[in-house]
Order: sequence, then C-alpha cells, then structure tokens
Amino acid sequence: MFPEHVGFIMDGNGRWAKGRGLSRSDGHRAGTENIRNIIQTSKDLKIRYLSFYAFSTENFKRPLQEVRFLMNLLIEFFNKELPELNKEGARIHILGDVSLFSAPVRFVLEKALETTKNNNEIHVCLALGYGGRAEILRAVNLLLEKETKHVDEKDFKDLLYTAGMPDPDLIIRTSGEHRISNFLLFQMAYSELYFTQVLWPDFDKDQYLIALEDFSSRKRRFGGVDDE
Ligand code: IPE
Ligand code: IPE
Ligand code: MG
Repeated sequence: MFPEHVGFIMDGNGRWAKGRGLSRSDGHRAGTENIRNIIQTSKDLKIRYLSFYAFSTENFKRPLQEVRFLMNLLIEFFNKELPELNKEGARIHILGDVSLFSAPVRFVLEKALETTKNNNEIHVCLALGYGGRAEILRAVNLLLEKETKHVDEKDFKDLLYTAGMPDPDLIIRTSGEHRISNFLLFQMAYSELYFTQVLWPDFDKDQYLIALEDFSSRKRRFGGVDDE
C-alpha cells in the first residue's frame, strides 16, 4: 500500500556539505535539487500529497546570511521549476506564515499559488515560516476572534494550513535525528514515522522506495485491533 500523503523533514544539508568540504549554501542547493526528483517519483507512483518542511519558524534563528541564501534559493527554485511543475499538474500550497518573508519572495510564492491553483494531479505543500505550535495557536486565535463556543475536530482541521487535505500517512526525516522539530504536530497524530541516517541531498529515488517499502510493511491500527 502506498501512502496518500508523505511529509518530508528535509534535514542534513549542512552536514552533507561539510562532509564534502563545501559551504552550507552548496548543501542547501543540492537539497533543493532533490525536491524535483521526489516529486517526479511520487507522481509516477500516484502519491497525491507531499509536504516538504523547507523553513521553520525557528530557522529564523540562523545567521542572516544563511537565511538570505535560503530565501534566494526559493526564488531560484520557482523561477526554474514552476513551468515544469505546472505542466505536470502540480498544485503548490504554502503551509506557514510568510508575512516575515521579503516582498520578492512573497511575490514568487503568490505567482506559484496562482499559476497552479486549478491543478489536481499532485499537491505539493511547502512548509515555509512554518511551526506546528504556531499553526495550532493561529487556529485557536481565529476561533477566539469568532467567539466560537464549541469546535469539533473537523472544524479545527479546517483552520489549519492543511485544510481539506488528508493527514500525512508517512513522515520521513533524513539525517539521523529522531525528532519532529515542530512539523505538522496536529496532523501527524497517526502518521507512520521513518527515520534514516541518509542526508537529505543523498535521499534519492532508491532511498525513497526503501522508505515506501518499509511503510507498506507497517500495520496501522489507529487505536483499533487488527482485522483477522
Ligand atoms: C535542512 O538542513 C535545511 C533546513 C533546515 C533549511 P540543515 O541546514 O538543517 O542541515 P544540518 O542539520 O545543519 O546538517
Ligand atoms: C527541521 O530541521 C526544519 C526543516 C527541515 C526545515 P532543523 O535542522 O531546523 O531541526 P533541528 O534544529 O535539528 O531540530
Ligand atoms: Mg538540521
């Protein structure tokens, strides 16, 4: 069984670069290149939703030079990839608060959303300025503004950035860290987690297929019991 929605915590770009005597920027560039391959493989396998953790709310703590580089890389990525993504029928979604991003970055993101808004082959979510806690608090504040008295799970989910999307079935984290780092906290309640030592720029199609095979061997119970 293939997952319907896969989330990626793309970690290890810096260590990948260090291991090669390159700069962290080179690592980020190599990591970005990889996104295209993962989208293509997913599309071939008919996996319909992908979420890439690209820049967390906490990543603003990084040196200004690195933050700037990552922002420029985003512009570069869309300038290069948007026509092809659109042709492939990918719909881009942004998860997160990009109000702190610069105007040129927001312009490119807007363009990507607008250009792909009618596509439906594969949904590609980029988590940018994203934090799971901030996302939950944002939903709570929206409810307070509306003076809502009661809310159920469905109503609450509709206030998250992933409104209307299935929860991730599988979350893959590269680079050997065994943590979630504030990604999709509410949505991953029953996600299967896959951790690999492989650094994100090296997480190629073969590695992805290994992760998917591992996923297919999992028994998901959602709190119930196995069907006999
Ligand atoms: C992931 O790689 C990319 C982002 C978080 C933007 P890192 O930059 O975190 O790489 P390491 O963890 O330092 O190796
Ligand atoms: C998680 O990676 C965030 C992204 C992949 C964007 P980090 O490198 O920021 O996570 P920590 O700091 O190791 O937890
Ligand atoms: Mg990291």
